[in-house]
Amino acid sequence: MMNSGLRSVVSLLALSCSVLSPFSWASPLKTINNDRAASWPFGPLVTSGRDIKNAQGGTVVYAGTNWPGHGEVMIPDGLHYQSIESVITKIKSTGMNAIRLTYAIQMIDDIYSKNGQDTTVRQSFINALGQTNGAKVYSQFLAKNPSFNDSTTRLQVFDAVAAECAKQQVFVHLDNHMSKAAWCCSSNDGNTWFGDTYYNVDNWTRGLSYMANHGKSWTALTSMSLRNELRKPESNPTLSSQSYNWRDWYTNIKKGTSAINSANPDLLIFLSGLDYDTYMTPVVQGTAFTPGSAKYSAADFPNYANKLVLEIHNYQNSASNCNSLKSSLYNSGFQALHAEDSGAKNVFPVLLTEFGFDMSGNAWQGTYATCIASYLAEQKAGWFIWVVSGSYYIRSGTQDFEETWGLLKHDWSGWRSSAYIEGGLKPLAKATAQG
Ligand SMILES: *[C@@H]1O[C@H](CO)[C@@H](O)[C@H](O)[C@H]1NC(C)=O
Ligand SMILES: *[C@@H]1O[C@H](CO)[C@@H](O)[C@H](O)[C@H]1NC(C)=O
Repeated sequence: MMNSGLRSVVSLLALSCSVLSPFSWASPLKTINNDRAASWPFGPLVTSGRDIKNAQGGTVVYAGTNWPGHGEVMIPDGLHYQSIESVITKIKSTGMNAIRLTYAIQMIDDIYSKNGQDTTVRQSFINALGQTNGAKVYSQFLAKNPSFNDSTTRLQVFDAVAAECAKQQVFVHLDNHMSKAAWCCSSNDGNTWFGDTYYNVDNWTRGLSYMANHGKSWTALTSMSLRNELRKPESNPTLSSQSYNWRDWYTNIKKGTSAINSANPDLLIFLSGLDYDTYMTPVVQGTAFTPGSAKYSAADFPNYANKLVLEIHNYQNSASNCNSLKSSLYNSGFQALHAEDSGAKNVFPVLLTEFGFDMSGNAWQGTYATCIASYLAEQKAGWFIWVVSGSYYIRSGTQDFEETWGLLKHDWSGWRSSAYIEGGLKPLAKATAQG
């Protein structure tokens, strides 16, 4: 982005001034001593009230897209159709500055099961798509991404995505989407809530730590989420009645944030709420985490309360009244941007990390899409649209699944709706993206 380029020039100037000038002063020295703060992404990022700030004091607003890597193959989608470089180049060309890169805890569980050995991509394709199709799609993957080979592992593909993001100055927000790798989400998929069939809390915190630590080598990684879309475990009535509540939410998010922060204290950590992450009200308004009586307290996050960010999702696609959609967004969590409002007890940055709509028609000109865009622009809030994928390797049992909500076409070669990219997405990125 232009802002980042300018900042690099400014810090270079500051550096040469300090060398040339006999009257050198403190802040350029600090820049010299801290390499990370002197070049993109100018990390580590911190929160300051409603804003995310970089190490130079600039405000950072993510404007980006989701890129799923939590499906059964457990690597980012689309790479049998296009190279990593071409996908990031397309994202970057719109003015977007970030990706929400999703992964499954199972990827890390598999590493522990195999005594530290990560699974090869070749094997992953075969496991997920079967011998014949797996081998075929894997050879397409190699043809499009020739730097990979038979010993390339899942995590090495994530590494390569992160490296390309660093090269093109695109922030990586790493999102734990599922425990067991699969399409998300339903209320009976065993991944709904802490303690559900596949959602073992110890495996989860171990996975968060592992990725936070692994991500230290990713220049572009500036934040991680705790978990995508917590939801009521409908297929487990006992867990549902005894544990699906804000009290247990708070207990578990303290474990999750601590796991990430101890492994990698630089990262921002995103907190998501109940009912598919559609509301964060008790955190924002500082009311009791029922049925308990504890309330959100910065002291519960010793030395890293300034790393916490709220995220919500919105899919009220049939909205017909923009004012009511806006008040719904405000009441669900965006109120935390407004220290001036009496109800906003705890002020945080808030991002809309999922919203989206069918790209095959003119939904982008409808009430929902235009209203979300105007709200994000007014609030100067960050966002990730669902989804970049033109298709998935596999979704809900169907291979090469067509994604009509995808920004890209089925083969990821170009935009599904150029009209939206030009008339909707680019203006939104321009109105919001900074840093
Ligand atoms: C295979 O790919 C991995 C990364 O994906 C790389 O580290 C390794 O050097 C490659 N091996 C060969 C023989 O090219
Ligand atoms: C937790 O990870 C272990 C491997 O370390 C795995 O065997 C086990 O199935 C995982 N638990 C769940 C609930 O997925």
